[in-house]
Amino acid sequence: MDAKRLRWEQAGQGQVFKWFDKLTGDQKKQLEDDINEIDVDQINNIYKKLLEDKVTQKINLTYHGFENVKTLDSLTDEQKTRWQSIGYQLVSEGKVGVLLLAGGQATRLGTLVPKGQYDIGLPSKKSLFQLQAERVLKLETLVKNHFKLATIKPVQWYIMTSRATHDPTIKFFEDNSYFGLKKDSFFFFQQTMIPCVTPEGKIINESCCKVSLSPNGNGGLYHSLVTSGAIEDMRAKGVQYVSQYCVDNVLIKMVDPLFIGFMHDSGSDCAAKVVAKIDPEEPVGVMALENNKPCVLEYSEIDKESKYLREANGRLTFNYAHICINAFSFEFLDRLSKEGRTTQLPYHVAFKKIPCADDAGQRINPDANNGWKMEMFVFDVFPYSKHMVCLEVDRSEEFSPLKNNAGMAVPKDSPETCLQDICRLHRRYIERAGGKLDDSNSNLIEVSPLVSYAGESLESRVQGHQFTLPHHIE
Ligand code: UD1
Repeated sequence: MDAKRLRWEQAGQGQVFKWFDKLTGDQKKQLEDDINEIDVDQINNIYKKLLEDKVTQKINLTYHGFENVKTLDSLTDEQKTRWQSIGYQLVSEGKVGVLLLAGGQATRLGTLVPKGQYDIGLPSKKSLFQLQAERVLKLETLVKNHFKLATIKPVQWYIMTSRATHDPTIKFFEDNSYFGLKKDSFFFFQQTMIPCVTPEGKIINESCCKVSLSPNGNGGLYHSLVTSGAIEDMRAKGVQYVSQYCVDNVLIKMVDPLFIGFMHDSGSDCAAKVVAKIDPEEPVGVMALENNKPCVLEYSEIDKESKYLREANGRLTFNYAHICINAFSFEFLDRLSKEGRTTQLPYHVAFKKIPCADDAGQRINPDANNGWKMEMFVFDVFPYSKHMVCLEVDRSEEFSPLKNNAGMAVPKDSPETCLQDICRLHRRYIERAGGKLDDSNSNLIEVSPLVSYAGESLESRVQGHQFTLPHHIE
């Protein structure tokens, strides 16, 4: 450790060892473990680059609205069926994998367990992970039925976790027998942790024997796909498209065959689902073009003027929200790593309250923002796409994220709004299929994904029936 300590001192980060000489053996070991995970020069370089970017910040950059968007609503039934069939075909051949981003710390929701384990209060009490797994199961059944096949290659599911969510996530799937899916269709991998720094670039201690580490952002995905062997697993299994989503979207259509069919048919290597922004202040990233290359202006970084900019027809110029439902061709992911992009993505800064050590080395929660979290973003690979396409989907059918905790004065992206959004959608499924609901006591209605993936095949179950709520069709 002496050599390492010297190295860190030379790099201007000796403060991390402030309490080292007085630590017990176990505590020393703990700090050493953290230190061994960190490349101190890399952190200094990331910080330096962020400072430089701040000075030169985007002065000469101009952004334009992203217009290569197909709207689901504007498609004919023939087009939809065609893309759906292409997607089914690709799924049946085992060529579509699914990629879950589940390494976030869920600080706004404030749960002690990984967000995917959260129960938003559906009648079935199912967790987000269970809903997602059952949607995959149902999709596999639909594909089997479509081609009258007894079996198909299972959809491969790649799950990115981080230090805090890795073991509990795996245990949760194990304890629940992978919700009926095959164990060997899962590939869990961890993203890298990165230290938080003060605005002056000094690495922060969480306590006398711990560095304050946080996951390196969901853009850490691309590097971790390589280092974990996930990319090689995809290659070996013949995965050609990867359908990526966030753990928090309770309406996620897992491996949506229509979306994959759309992407394949467009000859695209990178695709995103988007929704129209509700209002200029909605906290979502927006699709844009920078030097004619696709990109996302994140809600935490976009300037006010751009947020409110409108076209002559009144529509917001940056109208298409990035909802973190993206898809990549395997070739694209592989190319990113071969071209060295995965280690060159830019970092972004969030100025946050970072738990830190007081003078005595005890962990404290500061009252005010005291440090930078440095993160890479999943969409920062969009500019490297050779042909990016977007599909505008109906928000009420596909996007309701769980971000904030319960009990907000005006609930927003919270367990309450997620619950209501699922129930509203499932009510629509049932009423469309000829069922009736008695909602005099409750408005909770749920259709199990094992019964219907997206509202199909419900007639025989619900037509002519009245259900008293709360009710779960299973
Ligand atoms: C994200 C998008 C934003 C989009 C919004 C829609 C990014 C950078 N921003 O914002 O453009 O409009 O969702 O809801 O994607 N995660 C990791 N590792 C990390 C950090 C996050 O895996 O280090 C995962 C989370 O578990 C989650 C997803 O990434 O599944 C999104 O993270 P979150 O922090 O919720 O992003 P938002 O700020 O809401």
